[in-house]
Amino acid sequence: MRLVNINYVKDGAVLARPVRNSNGQILLGAGIVLTKDYIEKLKTIGFDVLFVMDNRFEDVEINYAISDKTKEIAYSTVRGITHALEQDPNAEIDAGSVRYAVLNIVQDLLYSSDILSNLTDIIGYDEYTFHHSINTTVLALLLGIEKKYNQNQLIELGMGVLMHDIGKTKISREILNKKGKLLDEEFEQIKNHPLFGYDYIRNNHDFSLLSAHVAFQHHEQWAGGGYPRGLEETEIHEYARIASVADVYEALTSKRPYRDAMEPYLAYEYIIVKAGTQFDPDIVNLFSRAVAPYPTGIGVQLSNKMQGNVIRQNPELPSRPVVRIIADGDVSLDKPIDLDLSSPQNLSIMINKTLNW
Ligand SMILES: [Fe+2]
Repeated sequence: MRLVNINYVKDGAVLARPVRNSNGQILLGAGIVLTKDYIEKLKTIGFDVLFVMDNRFEDVEINYAISDKTKEIAYSTVRGITHALEQDPNAEIDAGSVRYAVLNIVQDLLYSSDILSNLTDIIGYDEYTFHHSINTTVLALLLGIEKKYNQNQLIELGMGVLMHDIGKTKISREILNKKGKLLDEEFEQIKNHPLFGYDYIRNNHDFSLLSAHVAFQHHEQWAGGGYPRGLEETEIHEYARIASVADVYEALTSKRPYRDAMEPYLAYEYIIVKAGTQFDPDIVNLFSRAVAPYPTGIGVQLSNKMQGNVIRQNPELPSRPVVRIIADGDVSLDKPIDLDLSSPQNLSIMINKTLNW
């Protein structure tokens, strides 16, 4: 299979992985032949990329970080809690269901063999708070695993991150989904969501207080200047420092009402550049080891004009994956060639850009 930008998916292409809506329900199953109508509809819903069959990439498996079942459990949990609080701000969060959803994610991640390559499904779907919360949780837990947290710590971290934006249910949708620049007073309202979330979680004694602090502190910044309290460095709990990196990376690589999704390698660069100012440098170090700048499946153009798709990661050299070359400039190759960018003879070849094809 191959990851293709939806604008380049051809009429008659065969879907290699099911397409799901934000509730986790299957819209189109694997094996479906994509018609022009389907492609147009998926574009309208907001899908940017699809996995399609391609016999040149038959042997390439792209495994998700978490299983579809785990994703469905997480979706329905976050959706259920979000809707309940929107209808009744005094409703109680069912901590047991949050714990269960997080436990499933943790188990999937612990049993996943090549985590580095498995974040491909984070890129480019439509934005909903619950979708964002799940992806952010997966990424935060990957960092927690890299940090060698024990099961209890992972659950505390995960429960906090899954609920980190729950305070947004108290903010008007008009402000949250506004396309233009926010007015000062609107931004002041948004800045209340960490405190709202903290209150929800800490008042529920089935959550650890540390999980509540993830919600409270996830917009604080390492060098100060974040909100709501302008904490600095280790005044911010480590869980919240992890949540902050995961939250920003996930937000940048998702579509927002006011902008398109950023390319994964640019979002990766953003996180690296902000080490020591916005983010804790040690957490950024973990991030650089746990996340692939060029996720498996993505199209790339090399400095020698060759073009292809990433088929495998090199965990020791994340920015130099293995690329299957299918074109030289504009000319398609009869036989694809696999190029390992980490091999000594290939070190002069750079990735110029990712491709929308
Ligand atoms: Fe937030």
